[in-house]
Amino acid sequence: MMIYSFKIRKSNYITLFLTILFFITTGCVHGQLGVNNSNQYRNGMVVCAYPDAAQVGLDILKKGGNAVDAAVAVQFALTVTHPQAGNIGGGGFMVFRSKSGKTNTLDFREKGPAGASANMYLDSAGNVIPDMSLYTHQASGVPGSVDGMVEAHRKYGKLKWADLVQPAIELARNGFKITKHLASDLNRTKAQFTKLNPGKTYLIKDGDWNEGDVLVQEDLAKTFELIRDKGREGFYDGIVADEIVAEMKSGKGLMTKEDLKNYHSVWRNAITGNYKGYKIITMPPPSSGGIALLQLLQSVEKYPLKRWGYNQDSTVRLVVEAERRVYADRSKYLGDPDFFKVPVDSLLKPAYTASRMSNFSWDAATPSTSIQPGTFVSYESDQTTHYSIVDRDGNAVSITTTLNDSFGSKIFVKGAGFLLNNEMDDFSSKPGVPNMYGLIGGKANSIQPGKRMLSSMTPTIVEKDGKLFMVVGTPGGSTIITSVFQTILNVIEFNQSMQHAVTSKRFHSQWLPDEVTVEKDAIDSATVTKLQGKGYKITTHGTIGRVDAILKTQWGYYEGGADPRGDDTKLGW
Ligand code: DON
Repeated sequence: MMIYSFKIRKSNYITLFLTILFFITTGCVHGQLGVNNSNQYRNGMVVCAYPDAAQVGLDILKKGGNAVDAAVAVQFALTVTHPQAGNIGGGGFMVFRSKSGKTNTLDFREKGPAGASANMYLDSAGNVIPDMSLYTHQASGVPGSVDGMVEAHRKYGKLKWADLVQPAIELARNGFKITKHLASDLNRTKAQFTKLNPGKTYLIKDGDWNEGDVLVQEDLAKTFELIRDKGREGFYDGIVADEIVAEMKSGKGLMTKEDLKNYHSVWRNAITGNYKGYKIITMPPPSSGGIALLQLLQSVEKYPLKRWGYNQDSTVRLVVEAERRVYADRSKYLGDPDFFKVPVDSLLKPAYTASRMSNFSWDAATPSTSIQPGTFVSYESDQTTHYSIVDRDGNAVSITTTLNDSFGSKIFVKGAGFLLNNEMDDFSSKPGVPNMYGLIGGKANSIQPGKRMLSSMTPTIVEKDGKLFMVVGTPGGSTIITSVFQTILNVIEFNQSMQHAVTSKRFHSQWLPDEVTVEKDAIDSATVTKLQGKGYKITTHGTIGRVDAILKTQWGYYEGGADPRGDDTKLGW
């Protein structure tokens, strides 16, 4: 008997040992491992779109900087190394959660210049003039990024401002090796750069750019020196402001010195919601992202997604139907809260979301009422960028920042070495006419001087049991909201590790156009056939989103997810 029970116990130990080994080697329970592995760090982590910028952020953390210090340094380093979207000529949003759980958000979104007006992109017949809100000097909103970084640092920073700007100066002056990806983006945009910037050479090279070429940006280094030495004034006043205004004058642009002087970012309370016991902390308007994300989570909460599984028939249908309804709301109710009363509370009432989902039927897709179907132009995802940072003490920063299109308006400020945004396209140029992401808007998002254009950027932080759980966000225009939504579901519902959740294939739907866009192989062919049978139009697209995220495991380790769709990099210590 003794021997028998010993044998049983021994085999139990072996089973236990093998089970633990399995979890350790596969990491398949979302980051809940009790041991460190190569993707888990105790003291801090940076996940962002470019390796050299991630290194800058990590160095700041190691020097004793906090997550906000590292974020400022990464924002500026990305301006140098990821000119498609990293910027000082654009804007963005920050969601912050302190080590003690206090939250805040910073809105450094661009604003319409004082000379902007509702019909500025319409011809005399009232039609939208193609590309005017995209590739002209009139396409730029007043940039917010430098003021945003100054404000973030003033409120939360620990290290000296100059030390956070210095790495960008060095990267710009000494140059850095470009990746294959950046080389090909620069080559692809060369014709537009040349056309829109006659006689100028910034980012333009004789012949093609190749992987490993060194990109030096001396003008940008000088601009950063002014920002280092003078802070806000180094950009919104003096030489750089003069250069921006001169650039505007050369192309009938609207921005004036007054516009620049008057720009100020705004602290806003985060909006929060709950999903199955997790607290979601996210960006309020003028981003639509936070409200839409919370509405989506509410819409699907009562359904057994875990049982249905990742990208299975019922999961996809439920998610698409929720997205259809939420994006329809976005088009009508969301805009800059300083100009339009956004009905935040009503939109987030559980009874409201439930009523919106009440006509969802398992029999067939709900047809989207077509006002004017948008052409879903581009999902290329280099156009905005997101970074997630956590520090040793547990402060967390989630920032999404953009020039809008890849390299913004493609117009750079002569002498100052940086690109201007084309964020004005995020306003509704005319009710019902889609913007470059196929998004439709109306009065809530009409153009007005000093107003901020509606955004989809969704920097988000998730808490579990009152503790930091996840920092997440992505670029991708209108697909930002749905990519963040899916990444959260991948972890919470489908038990994916952080990296797995980021790598997993995505799909997207947004009311109009009435279709479901999927990354190749995101949904298996049998499921696609079933969905088509129920009336869903499925189209395939290259890539959707570039999610950069961090999970805090229950054992206190940070685990990163860097999107393999780009040059995204996670570094920790
Ligand atoms: O604020 C917005 O919603 C857009 N300007 C974001 C653009 C974007 O994400 C492009 N990226 N791929």
